[in-house]
Amino acid sequence: MSFKSSEFRAALGQFATGVAIVTCPGDGQGPVGITINSFTSVSLEPPLALWCLDKASDREHVLINSASFVVNVLCKSQQSLSARFAEIGQHDFSGIDFLPSRSGAPILPNTLAHLECTVTDRHEGGDHWIIVGHVDGLKVGRGEPLLYFDGGYRDIGLS
Ligand SMILES: Cc1cc2nc3c(=O)[nH]c(=O)nc-3n(C[C@H](O)[C@H](O)[C@H](O)COP(=O)(O)O)c2cc1C
Repeated sequence: MSFKSSEFRAALGQFATGVAIVTCPGDGQGPVGITINSFTSVSLEPPLALWCLDKASDREHVLINSASFVVNVLCKSQQSLSARFAEIGQHDFSGIDFLPSRSGAPILPNTLAHLECTVTDRHEGGDHWIIVGHVDGLKVGRGEPLLYFDGGYRDIGLS
C-alpha cells in the first residue's frame, strides 16, 4: 500500500455526507440504534438502500442479525442525538423519544426523512458488513441536513 491508514481516513473524510441513525427492533432486550454516515441508495426499482456496519461494534451481533431496520436521516438540530448514538456502548433508547415502526424499529421524530427497510442481503466488506434493505415505507420531512465533513459536523444554509 502506498499510503498510511490515516491518509485513507483523511481522503474518505473529504467526501461530505449526511448523518443518520439506523435503528432495529433488537433481540428481546429493547431496540438499538447506531449513528452512521455510510447510508447509500442502491436501486430505485426495486427500492433498495444500504449501510455499512463496523464488525467491531458492540452492537454488531444485534444489528447484523436483525431482519429489518429504519434509517432516520438527521437534521442540523439533531447533532446531540447523533453524538448520543455514536457513544461507545450507548445503543438503548432510554430517555429517547420515538415511535415504533411496523417492525418495531424506532422512528425518531422531526427527522428529514425515515426509511423502513427489510434486510435482503448481507455482504462482508473487509472489517465492515454491507447491509442491503428493501424500502417498504418512508416519510419525507423538511429542514436543513446535519452534515459530516473532514471529521466534524457541519451545516449548510439553504435559501
Ligand atoms: C458521523 C458518524 C458516522 C458514523 N458512521 C458509521 C457507519 O457508517 N458505520 C458504523 O458501523 N459506525 C459508524 N460510526 C460509529 C458509530 O456511530 C459508533 O461511534 C461506534 O459504533 C461506537 O462503538 P460501539 O458500537 O462499539 O458502541 C459513525 C460515527 C459518527 C460520529
